[in-house]
Amino acid sequence: METDKTKDLERSEAFLHNLIQSAVDAIIAADKTGKVIIFNDAAAEISGYSVKEALKNLDIRDVYLGDGAREIMKKLRSDEFGGKGKLKSYLVNVVGKKGDSIPIRLNASIVYDGDKEVATIGFFHDMREEIEMKKKLEKTQVQLLQAEKMASLGKLAAGVAHQLNNPLGGISLFTKLILEEYELQDKVKEDLNRILKDTQRCSDTVKELLEFARQTSQFMKPCDINKAITRTLFLLENQALFQNITTEKDLSPDLPPVKADIQQLNHMFMNIILNAAQAMEGNGKLILKTYLHPSRDRICIEIKDTGPGIPKDIKKHIFEPFFTTKEEGKGTGLGLSIVYGIVESHKGNIHVKSDPKKGTIFLIELPLNSSEGKGNKNGR
Ligand SMILES: Nc1ncnc2c1ncn2[C@@H]1O[C@H](COP(=O)(O)OP(=O)(O)O)[C@@H](O)[C@H]1O
Ligand SMILES: [Mg+2]
Repeated sequence: METDKTKDLERSEAFLHNLIQSAVDAIIAADKTGKVIIFNDAAAEISGYSVKEALKNLDIRDVYLGDGAREIMKKLRSDEFGGKGKLKSYLVNVVGKKGDSIPIRLNASIVYDGDKEVATIGFFHDMREEIEMKKKLEKTQVQLLQAEKMASLGKLAAGVAHQLNNPLGGISLFTKLILEEYELQDKVKEDLNRILKDTQRCSDTVKELLEFARQTSQFMKPCDINKAITRTLFLLENQALFQNITTEKDLSPDLPPVKADIQQLNHMFMNIILNAAQAMEGNGKLILKTYLHPSRDRICIEIKDTGPGIPKDIKKHIFEPFFTTKEEGKGTGLGLSIVYGIVESHKGNIHVKSDPKKGTIFLIELPLNSSEGKGNKNGR
């Protein structure tokens, strides 16, 4: 009879031990002196201490950052945080073995023997994943909002561009007619030519606007990205703005082709490289780099300059249409919004890293056409 009881006790104790050990959350209990007396596998995983070493040496005060343990005891003894002897959903940082700080949601209680405090026990829920997920979600929301804004602005821009195209055509046609059909003083001719030139500038802006709104058709073909960059650079390098800019190319020789509209890619590189040259005011270093992403599903293009960088409050706006910090006549503010549209229509990504001391890097990622590859594999 007696041995049966002992066996039962042993069995239930082993069961309880298992229960604690296999809990998802970390469970740590300490006696009155602060010595750790229960420390499960999850606690070991979060903190980096082994169960053995924690049970041997760890003091509960070392688990919390700074004066955290005392603060928690104070809260536990008061009845304002979930009842006397209890603390519910308390956010706190614990310190891992390596000194790393880990955000935790803690549920804790004092274990009483009658009126006497004999121990404390805490259930620690690791918040890192949740926090990371929340951050990602917030970032996606911001991106969505940005995409939405760009889409509606794009529609507006396309509407305006179409409205402007006809009258602009008229102005330029009639100005040319006057110039051709009448005997005019040189002064008048000069004024009319000025009108023609400004009209041309307006049509160029309209063209850019249409491009931004992606009303121009796309021809998607396998493209050699390195070739596209080299060609764009060749066209630009001969311009005066590039006289004192050194360019460095670090183009990976074995990039697979990307299905893209080559005209749009040229336009995209042109806009970014021109911005870089303008930012450096014609003096500095331009570094162009291409490589296959380690996951082999996309190509990365980095365009780096040694210019003054982009201040944080400006960086938020650079992809917005008509946003420019350049004086009138120098910038339309459409360059990067067009770039954004082109990257998006190629299902890519664009990121900007900027440092006032080092300059600016535009990183573009273009996906390789994986769906086509899969189709072929299944088909044959
Ligand atoms: N490489 C760069 N370095 C610093 N600022 C930049 C760079 N590229 C773009 N910018 C900033 O972004 C703004 C928007 O660029 P963009 O859309 O091309 O319009 P624009 O060149 O006509 O001003 C620029 O006016 C400039 O302030
Ligand atoms: Mg520009």
